[in-house]
Amino acid sequence: MAERVSVLGTGYLGATHAAGMAELGHEVIGVDIDPDKVARLSAGEAPFFEPGLPELLRKHLDSGRLRFTTEVAEAADFADVHFIGVGTPQRKGEYAADLTFVDGVIETLAPLLTRPATILGKSTVPVGTAARLAARVRELAPVGDEAQLGWNPEFLREGFAVEDTLRPDRIVVGVDTAGPGAVEDVARRVYADAIGRDTPFLVTDLATSELIKVSANAFLATKISFINAIAEVCEATGADVVDLADAIGHDARIGRKFLGAGLGFGGGCLPKDIRAFMARAGELGVDQALTFLREVDNVNMRRRDQAVGMAEDMVGVLPGARIAVLGAAFKPDSDDIRDSPALDVAGKLHLHGALVTVHDPEANANASKVWPTLTYVDDAISACQGADLVVVATEWKQFRELDPVALKGIVAHARVIDGRNCLPVQDWIDAGWHYRGVGRYAS
Ligand code: UGA
Repeated sequence: MAERVSVLGTGYLGATHAAGMAELGHEVIGVDIDPDKVARLSAGEAPFFEPGLPELLRKHLDSGRLRFTTEVAEAADFADVHFIGVGTPQRKGEYAADLTFVDGVIETLAPLLTRPATILGKSTVPVGTAARLAARVRELAPVGDEAQLGWNPEFLREGFAVEDTLRPDRIVVGVDTAGPGAVEDVARRVYADAIGRDTPFLVTDLATSELIKVSANAFLATKISFINAIAEVCEATGADVVDLADAIGHDARIGRKFLGAGLGFGGGCLPKDIRAFMARAGELGVDQALTFLREVDNVNMRRRDQAVGMAEDMVGVLPGARIAVLGAAFKPDSDDIRDSPALDVAGKLHLHGALVTVHDPEANANASKVWPTLTYVDDAISACQGADLVVVATEWKQFRELDPVALKGIVAHARVIDGRNCLPVQDWIDAGWHYRGVGRYAS
């Protein structure tokens, strides 16, 4: 059954969710305070790079099931189900999450709810937030108890956002055990398609649903830092972390995914989520339970410095060295440079006096806003022209498929750091390159 749905906040989560809801047959209105974003989305243009999203936006702007506005009142008028998809960035000067946007949406929306409505929060929030907001909604909404709030965390990955929205691997709905509770029924109707395909549908209390989300990200971050810590030991012993990860990954209890050693994790989620989780644990008096996440963060940040050290090792002295950095986005198929290890390494090399030229297939524009002093070029070959060192910092397909023989002809010195362990090593070594991976080969 088609529901009337609003999505408040149209970042990569909200915009994708709005288009996804329309694809599932619902009538959708997306809301954002940024008129520019609303204008672009209304024209079928995604304000960020996400494969498949522009097509889906255009399809449902045309089908008439999707529109965008800057007016929360329009959403309150139109929809029975309201998703909150605004950001919860790290607070300036603190580890805790900044809840300004989430609070702002509730304060604006709730007083406009004059008929029964369900709010489903998707943003990643510190445990305890949803219960506080549920009470606030009951207090502010003219319909009182008939305005209900549940939490429905989002697990989509950038680069696969459309796929993850249409075919999630699980759906979690936290419900307010204090309230009368129609939230579960509403969520079952909204996600009928996925539930019909036997997607696990898990109903929990509010606190558990909030913790599921941050625990999942903390676990993924821990897995990456685990293998990066092992990579350090591999480097000290001449062992190969990729062979090691393959071998331990065969154990189904461990699994091979997220055991990719490299420059580590970045993006708008993992780094800030583990920090907000630590901050919240501190407030709850259980900071010791999550002290290990500080080490997860340390291992991750150390990887970036080690890459700079490796570069210095290879070129001799950094000042004046010409270095091509391939990649600026925090991962391939994204133009997101938030907390990007690739861009961080490029910036650090620049600060050490290297002459850095960056190429990213999608993220050059975003990167140049943060690091205007780096040189940006439109293709990998131009970036590598005359380079003393090539650093592959994001594993875009274009970089994985570079021809080492041809590339050797245009660089000044055939030296490469494979910061994502993504290159066919033997081909590069056979072509005469000095190759350094992370936790593996040095030739
Ligand atoms: C992450 C989670 O994977 C999603 O499930 C979650 O919904 C999302 O955060 C969120 O909270 O919104 P995302 O930030 O898109 O998704 O990125 P990931 O694919 O998790 O990658 C994070 C970082 O880890 C990237 O910088 C990637 O290069 C790095 N990574 C990943 C590794 O260094 N090694 C690996 O083996 C895997």
